[in-house]
Order: sequence, then C-alpha cells, then structure tokens
Amino acid sequence: MVDKRIMCVGLCNLDIIQVCENFPLEDSDQRSMHSRWQRGGNASNNCTVLALLDAKCELLSTFSDSEHFAFAIRDLHRREILTENCVFHKGSEIPLSTVWLNASSGSRTIVHSNPNLPELTEEQFGYCNLEHYSWIHFEGRRSSGEIAKMIKRIKMWNETRKVTERITISIELEKPRESNLLLIPNVNVIFLGKDFASFMGFNTALEAVQGFKKRFSGSYTVICPWGNIGVSALDQSNQYFNCGVYPPATIRDTLGAGDTFCAGCIFQLNQGNSLQKAIEYGSQLAGLKIGDFGFDHLKEKIDQLRE
Ligand code: FRU
Repeated sequence: MVDKRIMCVGLCNLDIIQVCENFPLEDSDQRSMHSRWQRGGNASNNCTVLALLDAKCELLSTFSDSEHFAFAIRDLHRREILTENCVFHKGSEIPLSTVWLNASSGSRTIVHSNPNLPELTEEQFGYCNLEHYSWIHFEGRRSSGEIAKMIKRIKMWNETRKVTERITISIELEKPRESNLLLIPNVNVIFLGKDFASFMGFNTALEAVQGFKKRFSGSYTVICPWGNIGVSALDQSNQYFNCGVYPPATIRDTLGAGDTFCAGCIFQLNQGNSLQKAIEYGSQLAGLKIGDFGFDHLKEKIDQLRE
C-alpha cells in the first residue's frame, strides 16, 4: 500500500514572490526586502511537501511549453516528483501568480493569470495506470464536470478491487464557487477551505463540517481548517475530531500553508493513521511552513514531528 504513489491532480504554475515591509501603496515605486521565483499551484505545492516527507508522489497537471515553464519542470525533476502523465500544450502561456508577502502582517496577496492553458480532461486522465496509486487527490478547479468524471472512473475501478487495494480519493474545495458541489459524490476525504465554507454560509469550522454533512449525505470524511483558529473534522461515521494551530514566533510566509496542511493530512491517512493524528500533523506542519520562506526548511524540521 505505502509503496504505491500518491497522485495530486491540479495546477502547476509559477509564483513570483515579493516580500514587502508593508503592503504596497497603489502607484508607488519601492524596493522589496527580497524576491524569489517558486513553482506553485495547489496540487504542485502538495507534491512539494509530500516529496519533502519522502512520500512517493506524482503530479498530474497540464504543462505549458513556454520557456519560463521549464523552471517549474526542472524543479519537479530535482525533487523526484513524478510527472510522466502530465500533458504538454504547445503555444500556451504559463499560468503565473504575482504574490505580495506582507512582512508586517504575514498576509499573502495573490494575483493570478491563466490565459490559455487548457485544463486536464477525463480522457487524458484515463491514460494513467490506476494500479500505481494508493491515493489520488484532486484540486477543485473550474473544470468540475471533467474532474467529477475522473473521480467516477476511479470509483468504478475501485469496485473491481479488493478493499485493501482500493484508491482513496480526496478533494480540496477551496475557491468560492457553486460548481465545487459537483465534486462531492464518490469522494472519501473532503478538505473544506475556509473561503468555500464561508461562501456556503458557515461561520466556523465546526458549523462547516456539521452543516456540510447534514446537506450532503454519504460516508466521507470532511476536514475544515479555519485559518489561525483551528481545525474541525468529522469522519465517515460522523465522529468529531479537532485540533488547534501551531503558529511560529514570527510568521514569514503563508503562501501554500493550506496546501501544506492537506499534504500533511494525506501523508498520515495514506499510512493508515488516525484522523486525529492526521489533522494534528497537518496543522503542525503548516505551522512550521509559515515560519520561513518556501518549503525547503521543512526538511530539517520534519523530524521534530516524527516521534
Ligand atoms: C497557493 C497557490 C500558489 C498559486 C495560487 C493559485 O495555495 O497554489 O502557489 O499561485 O495558490 O491559486
């Protein structure tokens, strides 16, 4: 089971990050404290964290053949994140985020563009050999009709396998859009982002997991991290779990904190560990991540969480 891969399906883009003392004023001209380029996108960040945890993982994204995208591809290879099923698109521009990190508040402001990189289709997903995976995680994107079909395909495959050989399916619903609701059926684990939960009318993580389960029946686990407040979760049989957050003394970089949390939970659940252990681990990992820039510092700190 653990020898099999975790696949993350979703966006791979380039993040150009400026760390500013304060949030920039409109029409001003200033120097940042420092800047960096980073491979980004939720699924791509999930893989970065999983690779740092030494999990065998694969990214499934569409790739641009633009010159700048080569930076992202090199970084994936350097980290031994598998990309063999990714789909190249000729002539499409790179999905690009410009990100302002505000050093005084810890906030991250993202401005994203994605003019013409096509989304993955279910037909392309169909080329993946499902024998290779123990877990497939999806990012809830605009192409929800296609993603729902990919999930259905895994469900049908699972029905032909022994329980121990089945693939666990998870989804992260983050962006505030109605079409996310199409992605709920047939999923085992749902990560409910705060923005999407608020969009659905919930005011706390507890309200969100309880309200979600009331509205959408099924035997799935739902996990809702609520910013710096804490995490609530209900398992398949509606047993409640929760945990707090672990902020560092200085918050440096919150970009990808949610992606780190999801990766930490998936890492633990994929090994058969409990939901309580998974959310605690995800929360601690996200706390470590925001204490420094990027993700690489996690590598030395992960051992602190292993006991
Ligand atoms: C962080 C992130 C960034 C990317 C943006 C896309 O969660 O994945 O890396 O620029 O979100 O929405």
